[in-house]
Amino acid sequence: MFITLEGMDGSGKSTQARLLAEFLRAQFGAAKIVLTREPGGAAISEQIRGVIHSLRNDNMAPLTEFLLYNAARAQIVAEVIRPALAQDKIVLCDRYADSTLAYQGYGRQLDLAMVRDVTRYATGGLKPDLTFYFELDIEAGLARRNQGHARGEELNRMDVQTREFYARVYNGYKLLRQAEPARWIVIDGSRAVESVQADLRAQLSPRLRVNLSS
Ligand SMILES: Nc1ncnc2c1ncn2[C@@H]1O[C@H](COP(=O)(O)OP(=O)(O)OP(=O)(O)O)[C@@H](O)[C@H]1O
Ligand SMILES: [Mg+2]
Repeated sequence: MFITLEGMDGSGKSTQARLLAEFLRAQFGAAKIVLTREPGGAAISEQIRGVIHSLRNDNMAPLTEFLLYNAARAQIVAEVIRPALAQDKIVLCDRYADSTLAYQGYGRQLDLAMVRDVTRYATGGLKPDLTFYFELDIEAGLARRNQGHARGEELNRMDVQTREFYARVYNGYKLLRQAEPARWIVIDGSRAVESVQADLRAQLSPRLRVNLSS
């Protein structure tokens, strides 16, 4: 089963992914669970992540950025995600193709049909079974993230975008959810970490039982 976590910057994806992986490992055994992230998740993809995120690359063209995300994605899909799914594992991925649709498609305003086509090509058409969306308004997400930076968490090139950019991304996510409502589960990300996690587990558990017994 392929599960992705999506949402705006600072909405809690990485925090919740870690906790959910812990819960699922306890329930199904560590060997059954793969927790990974985009961009990255495989050695080559992590190197590409470094290029995408480097603050030195402030002149990166939107098309370059887009292609790098999909280059990293082609590798993680081939090396990590598909093999794990073939072994019937549960794969949790912190961001995936929807992020590219939202950020590079809607946010950077690249041609949407092209973005869809190339992204589909990079994934070989592999789609998540389920996508959790952590709903949090833009300002709250940025405030959380800034607090994180003050505590020493990494600041990257994607963290220093304009408010207009984030607004387009937010709206892009909304359109993506509307286009495929059955795949997306919206979680109120504005609550305390533990409440969000409890909700996530409650939403996932019945779906996993159905999936694992079929
Ligand atoms: N429910 C929460 N309440 C308050 N702070 C939170 C909550 N969840 C996460 N945080 C904090 O907010 C910051 C961002 O969280 P996290 O890194 O999980 O978000 P993210 O969605 O992965 O962000 P990004 O898109 O930038 O990777 C971190 O400092 C984290 O500790
Ligand atoms: Mg994160």
